[in-house]
Amino acid sequence: MGRVSGKMALITGGAQGLGEAIGRMLAKEGAKVTLTDINGAGAEKIAASINAAHGAGTAFAFQQDVTDETRWKEVVQLAHDAMGGLNVLVNNAGIGSLGSVEDESYEIFRKVQAVDVDSIFLGCKYAIPLMRNHGLGSIINISSIAGIIASGNYVSYNTAKAAVRHLSKSVALHCAKTGGQIRSNSVHPVFINTPILDRTKEMFGEQKALEKLGRQIPLGKVGEPDDIAYAVLYLASDESKLVTGAEIKVDGGISAM
Ligand SMILES: NC(=O)c1ccc[n+]([C@@H]2O[C@H](COP(=O)([O-])OP(=O)(O)OC[C@H]3O[C@@H](n4cnc5c(N)ncnc54)[C@H](O)[C@@H]3O)[C@@H](O)[C@H]2O)c1
Repeated sequence: MGRVSGKMALITGGAQGLGEAIGRMLAKEGAKVTLTDINGAGAEKIAASINAAHGAGTAFAFQQDVTDETRWKEVVQLAHDAMGGLNVLVNNAGIGSLGSVEDESYEIFRKVQAVDVDSIFLGCKYAIPLMRNHGLGSIINISSIAGIIASGNYVSYNTAKAAVRHLSKSVALHCAKTGGQIRSNSVHPVFINTPILDRTKEMFGEQKALEKLGRQIPLGKVGEPDDIAYAVLYLASDESKLVTGAEIKVDGGISAM
C-alpha cells in the first residue's frame, strides 16, 4: 500500500514544475490525481505519462484558469466525477513578479493577488463541500518562504504569499470547527529548480544563477521539486492527521537566520 492509497487529489498548476512533481509523487504513492493548468495540453501530457507509469485511470487533466470562479465550480465537480471523489486539494498554481512598491504597476500587483491568493480562496470555497463526503481530507496551499521573509523588490509576491499563509490558517480553523475531518496547511519553499527560475537563468546563465541563489541559502543549494513533493505527500497522507493550520518551511534554513 502507498502512503496516500485511497486519496483523490486535485492539483492546480500541474503542467510543470512543482505541480508536476507533486502529481507524480502522489500517484506513485497510491493516489488518484487530477492535474489542472491554464496550459491544458501540458497538464494532459503529464497525466498521460503518469497513466503510462501507474495504469490508466490514475491521472486526469483539465484546462483551468484558477482566477475564473465559474471554472472552479466546474473543475471541482469534473475532478470529483473523474476520480470517484475528492479529498485532497493542492493549490499550487502561482506566478511571481519582481518589482518594488514604486516600480510595480497596480495592474501587475492585482494580477499576482488574483493568481496566487484569489485562486486559493475559490479553490477552498468550492472544494470543501465535496471533500466533506470522502473521509479525512487535506488542503495544501503552496505559499513561499517569500510569504515569511520580505524583500524590497518583491512587493506583489511577498504580499500574496503572506496572505496564503494566513488564509490557510483561517480555512484550517473553519474546517476544524465544522466537522474536523479536513485539514489545511501551507508549504513555504525556498528557491526550487523549476521553470519559474528561467528568467534568472537567462540573465546569469544556468550554472551561475543556481550558484547565486544557492549562496543565499544556509544549506548552500537550490532545492529540487521532490523536496516539496515529499512535504506535500506527508500533508496529503493521514500520517499528518493532527497537523492543521501549520506552516511547513522547506527552506534550507533561510528563515532560521
Ligand atoms: N520554484 C520556486 O522557486 C518556488 C519557490 C517558492 C514558491 N513557489 C511556488 O510554487 C508554486 C509552483 O511554482 P513552480 O516553481 O512550479 O512554477 P512554474 O512556473 O514552473 O509552474 C507554475 C504552473 O502554474 C501554471 N499557472 C500559472 N498561472 C495560472 C493560472 N492563472 N491558472 C492555472 N494555472 C496557472 C503555469 O502554467 C505553470 O504550469 C507557485 O505557487 C510558486 O509561487 C515556487
